[in-house]
Amino acid sequence: MLTRRELIKVGSATLLLLYLNQLALGQDAEEVFPQGVASGDPSQRGVVLWTRVNPKVHARKRKDLLLQLSEDPSFRKFSTFRVPASSIGPHRDYTVRIDLQGRLSPGTVYYYRFVYAGVKSIVGRFSTLPQRARELTLGFVVCQNYSDGYYTAYKHLAQEELHLVVHLGDFIYEKIYGPPRVPGRAVGLPSGERVCINIEDYRHLYKVYLSDPNLKLARALHPFVHTWDDHEFLNDCYYDHQRGVWGYFVEAHPVGNDRQRILQLRQDAIRAWVEYVPARVQLNPKDPDPLRWIRLYRDFDLGGLAHLIVLDERSYRERPPCQGRFGVEGCPEQHKTSMLGKEQFRWFKDKLLEGEHGWKVVANSVQFSRSLVDGKFGSLDAWEGYAGERQAILDLISKGGRKNLLLLSGDRHAAMVAEVPDSYDRPSRVLGAEFLTPALSSINALEGGWWKRSWPQYATLEDYERAETSQNPWIKYLNMRTWGYSLIKLSPDRVETTLLSVNKYDEEAQKRVMARFEYSQGELRRKEVNL
Ligand SMILES: [Fe+2]
Repeated sequence: MLTRRELIKVGSATLLLLYLNQLALGQDAEEVFPQGVASGDPSQRGVVLWTRVNPKVHARKRKDLLLQLSEDPSFRKFSTFRVPASSIGPHRDYTVRIDLQGRLSPGTVYYYRFVYAGVKSIVGRFSTLPQRARELTLGFVVCQNYSDGYYTAYKHLAQEELHLVVHLGDFIYEKIYGPPRVPGRAVGLPSGERVCINIEDYRHLYKVYLSDPNLKLARALHPFVHTWDDHEFLNDCYYDHQRGVWGYFVEAHPVGNDRQRILQLRQDAIRAWVEYVPARVQLNPKDPDPLRWIRLYRDFDLGGLAHLIVLDERSYRERPPCQGRFGVEGCPEQHKTSMLGKEQFRWFKDKLLEGEHGWKVVANSVQFSRSLVDGKFGSLDAWEGYAGERQAILDLISKGGRKNLLLLSGDRHAAMVAEVPDSYDRPSRVLGAEFLTPALSSINALEGGWWKRSWPQYATLEDYERAETSQNPWIKYLNMRTWGYSLIKLSPDRVETTLLSVNKYDEEAQKRVMARFEYSQGELRRKEVNL
């Protein structure tokens, strides 16, 4: 929570809203709307708005839900949208999603709140995307295991002045890894299992994660654009195209190898995600082809300045090739496998070439850059396991003479900044930059000690980091000992990315700038940070 001193120090409109909302979080609003409010997928003319009504309150009152929308934070004038009581119910776990596509004006700040039986929710805010933008700032986050740490980073993210937040996945963790790392963050599943086995388990996790006031405030104050990674469904999952079902590496999972049970689990995971994440995605849950149940990949025109391309890197990918996936030597098959699947790959290539000189900002989930240390690849679960497809993407950009690729990545639970060369075998020029944001709260390499399994020759993590950066010249910054969030400021001729560190063990921790980089026309430069 914000302290009074912090408030007085900054005193912006954002903070005032934050403060008023924090007061509301302790009152009736919290009882009626326990998971707060959220907005997502803003466009020039619309947005998706979200809330959830407490089922106990709804059982007692059976009222319609009202949405009030205003350009004025004090709501002197507002438009009202009505959601009938009959459409709120267990079929969507009492969540409500309103798509205002086509009803809003470009480049406008809106305030909204829900009203149920006379009780007002906290106030949410979003801005529609501008028609023409000169400058835009995006936040990006990933990996927020609730029981691994506090969401102090979200408290700081909530206070940033942003156009939107890109969430790169692992919004929930489907597996309970053990006791919580901080007091008060224990998570159990309704089924009593250690891993989600049905829709109630997934729904429960979203509710637990959204009980956090800092996450609720960040969702209220910024529109989010989400992709997912594996943990919204199944750890390290891939698609077995021959069997027509997802495969996974979790040992002794209760669903076992039974195709029907895994497909049912997939339906459950998709349903819960769609219920709790405000995204405008295509759904065809009755399609005989499981790969058509959801189409999550989509794109956004950021006011002509940039093109945000959101990828789905977990639904279509083939099984990672070779023996082992982490810290291994690799094999020729890694040049033949597909991460994106045929249709998405075709779509992605079209999107990369669309338009002229604007930035191509890709919500990319898993690391794109090669990390090869003493002859072993860091992870074949990331793009290195799909190196042929990666090279085809680089060739496409390279042939067009473009240098406008900006990859926002996560998954690794580390902060990293890298040039994107035209080839990792024979790099000759730079086509863009990759920015990996650290986990918001999930366990990092220092806590997990992962590097020791494959590289015991490095006694400390710092030694390993030095080896990785010196052996992979495109990597310009690597920090595997941190947590936090990142910001990217886009302008027509350059971008500036700031990686921020926030200690997840401390609910009052301050944010700290770890590193700042500027990218322009094939040149990535580290900038001085004045603390
Ligand atoms: Fe993660």
